[in-house]
Amino acid sequence: MSSAARLMNLSGSDEAGQAFRAVDCAAFIADEETRRVVEQACQALGKDASVSEGGSREAMEYLSEAPMPEILIVDVSDTGKPLSTMLTITAAFAENTKVIAIGAVNDIGLYRELIDGGVSDYLVKPVSDKALTDAISRERNTPQPAEPAATEKTPANVIAVIGTRGGVGASTIAANCAWIAAQEQKRQTTLLDLDLQFGTVALALDIEPTRGLREALENPSRIDSLFLSSAAAKLSDRLTVLAAEEAVDGEVRFDPSALDLLLGEINRSSQFVFVDLPRTGSIGRTRLLQMTSQIVVVTDVTLAGLRDCIRLIAMLERAAPQAKLIVAANRAGRTENGLSKTEFEKALGRKVDLVLPEDSKALAVSVNRGKPLPVVAKTSKFVAGLRQLVRRLEGADQPKPAQQKPALPFLNLLKKKK
Ligand SMILES: Nc1ncnc2c1ncn2[C@@H]1O[C@H](COP(=O)(O)OP(=O)(O)OP(=O)(O)O)[C@@H](O)[C@H]1O
Ligand SMILES: [Mg+2]
Repeated sequence: MSSAARLMNLSGSDEAGQAFRAVDCAAFIADEETRRVVEQACQALGKDASVSEGGSREAMEYLSEAPMPEILIVDVSDTGKPLSTMLTITAAFAENTKVIAIGAVNDIGLYRELIDGGVSDYLVKPVSDKALTDAISRERNTPQPAEPAATEKTPANVIAVIGTRGGVGASTIAANCAWIAAQEQKRQTTLLDLDLQFGTVALALDIEPTRGLREALENPSRIDSLFLSSAAAKLSDRLTVLAAEEAVDGEVRFDPSALDLLLGEINRSSQFVFVDLPRTGSIGRTRLLQMTSQIVVVTDVTLAGLRDCIRLIAMLERAAPQAKLIVAANRAGRTENGLSKTEFEKALGRKVDLVLPEDSKALAVSVNRGKPLPVVAKTSKFVAGLRQLVRRLEGADQPKPAQQKPALPFLNLLKKKK
C-alpha cells in the first residue's frame, strides 16, 4: 500500500473525497531510524505531523491530493535524480509550504542546486535530532524581521590581495593591511585566507589557524553568525581571522557558491574584508573575484614579475570587471637585476599605484616577535606604504587614473575644458 493510501486510512476518511487531514508537517521517509528522528523533532516543536514510510514518489502522490502542509519532509534516497524530483515537488506546492529534503548523498553541488530550486534545507543521513530541529525551526522563522536592517547595512568592502609570483609578499600585505584597517582605522575587519592548505596569514599574525573554515565551506548550510564566531579567531574586538592549515596530503573540495553564504555572513559584521587569494586556479577563486570591490595585485619589479603581472591583470579584468585594480610593487630594491619602475610601468601599460620597499629587518622582527609590522616597525617606510594603501582602499586617498593611456582619451580633454 502506498503511503498516500496509508495516510488516507489513518485519517479515517471516507472514499468519496476529503482523503487527507490537514497537518503541519508531512514526511515521507524510507528508513525507520530517520522516521523516528522526524517524529521526535516534530513532537518537540509542537508540530502536528504525519510521518509515513516512503520517499519522493509518495510525496508527489500526497501533494496531488492532500491539503498543503506547512512543512514537507521528503526522503530523496529513492531517486537517482534527486534534483529533478525535488524541482517537480517544489514547483507543485504553495509558496508558504517549505520543503526539507533528506538524502544519502553528501554532495555540496547537489545541496546548492536544491536550495536554488526552492528547497529550504538538505540533510544527509544519518540525520541528527538537532540538525532536523534546527531545519524545522528555520522553517518556522521564515519571516525575518531582522533582514531589512541587515540589508540596509552598507556592503563590506571586499578586497582580494593576490601575488603575481610566489613570495612577493601578498600574504604579508593582506595580514598587515587588515591589522591597520582594524586597529588604526577602527574598522570592523575580517581577514580570510583562502589558501586552506598553505596559507600564511595565521603565521604572520601569530595566531592558531582555525578549524571551522573548511567545515563552513564544505557545509554552507551550517554557516550562521554563531558558527562563524566559533570558526574564527578574534585578534581583537575589531579583527576577525579565518584561516586554516589543512593537511597537505588531502584535497579540499567545496562548492564555490559556499563563498556567497560565507561572505554574506561576514558582511553582516564587517566593513572591510581582506582576502588572501592564492594566485593559482584554486576552488572558488572566480566566484570570490566576482564579489570583490577592489583587488590589490602584488608584484615584484622583475622581468618574471612583469610577465606574470601582465597575465594576471588580463585575467582579473575579465573575471572581475567590477573591481578596481591596485598594483603594488613590493620588495622594491631587493634584486640588483630588477627593472626600473619606469621600465616596468611602460611595459605594463599602466602606473604602479604603490611602491613598497624591501625591509627584511622589520619583517624579521615581526616574525620573531610574532607581532604585526605596524607594532614592531611603526615608523618604517614599509608600514607607511601599507597605511597609504589602506587609506586608498578606504577611498580616503583617491587614486589617480590607473591607466597610463586612458581607454577614452577624449574624457581627459573634456575634463580640461571645464
Ligand atoms: N617588503 C618586504 N621586505 C622584506 N621581506 C618581505 C617583504 N614583503 C614580504 N617579505 C617576506 O617575503 C616572504 C614571502 O612573503 P609572503 O608569504 O607574504 O608572500 P606571498 O606572496 O604570500 O607568498 P606565497 O606565494 O607563498 O603565498 C616572507 O618571508 C615575508 O616576510
Ligand atoms: Mg601567501
